[in-house]
Amino acid sequence: MNYHKTVMLDETLNLLNIKSGGTYIDATLGGGGLSGEILKKLDNNGRLIAIDIDKDAIDYCKEKFKNEKKILIFNCNFTEISEVLKELKINKVDGICVDLGVSSHQIDCAERGFSYIHDAPLDMRMGQSGASAYDIVNFTEESKLSNIIHEFGEEKFAKLIAKSVCRRRKIKKIETTRELVEIIQSVVPKRFSGHPAKKTFQAIRISVNNELENLDILLDNCVKLLSSGGRLAVLSFHSLEDRIVKQKMKFWEKTCICPPNAPICTCSKKKEAFVINKKAITSSSSEIKNNPRSKSAKLRVCEKI
Ligand SMILES: C[S@@+](CC[C@H](N)C(=O)[O-])C[C@H]1O[C@@H](n2cnc3c(N)ncnc32)[C@H](O)[C@@H]1O
Repeated sequence: MNYHKTVMLDETLNLLNIKSGGTYIDATLGGGGLSGEILKKLDNNGRLIAIDIDKDAIDYCKEKFKNEKKILIFNCNFTEISEVLKELKINKVDGICVDLGVSSHQIDCAERGFSYIHDAPLDMRMGQSGASAYDIVNFTEESKLSNIIHEFGEEKFAKLIAKSVCRRRKIKKIETTRELVEIIQSVVPKRFSGHPAKKTFQAIRISVNNELENLDILLDNCVKLLSSGGRLAVLSFHSLEDRIVKQKMKFWEKTCICPPNAPICTCSKKKEAFVINKKAITSSSSEIKNNPRSKSAKLRVCEKI
């Protein structure tokens, strides 16, 4: 089985504008689909630094790229991107790509507990350490749990789900994905589209992996690490991520952040980057047909000034 089918591969590659002798970062290596194509465009002076928090992705890609000298693979959180570059004594890079979310491997690997389809212990950790979905579901205070499900899952039945989870866990800890799905199904009406547990699982996964905070930290680092003319391509899969990417890129474009009624500009804000595609790029209908996961994908690209 394929480790992962890369979404909008050609679009991302084209917009990254790869220079054969450049230095690039793939912040979310996954199955190396994107990295593999970047490597094809690099000559012997080019370098690719690839990061993933998931040991499975690292092991898979170390084997996949074992004969490839241009790639350097790091098993860490992409929030540590600046430390990685410091270690390599690299100041600036010519492009960075970020393909957010989970890989198909993570979803398909039942025992990782990401899927509401398979029954497995509640886990959902991309990095295999730290608090898991079990900890969030069993030990988070009801109002906080409800907030997580509402905010990160945009689930309107969040309060009911949290209440039901807390009632159930008083009798017995919730240990598996199936137990959680059953609790959700008991309070969420059947939807016309999508599984009733989809939004809650997304919310818990985002919380377990600190996804939105990490993205914010990553983006701040990216704009500092790009050399002039270097590009950042970010592929996101839900509106919460896309909003962060869109707002960050908009902020980088601004030449002034003074209040609108300020008589003169005192902010000394400089334009840091410009957006390449004003509207997010989405997958073609044929890609969506071949890979339904690409349906929600949004690609945004900017260039450092
Ligand atoms: C959608 S997959 C990337 C797929 C890849 N572009 C490909 O073509 O095969 C996302 C990957 O990002 C990794 N990831 C998610 N959050 C991360 C983080 N904070 N730091 C490092 N890697 C992360 C996941 O472990 C996963 O392997």
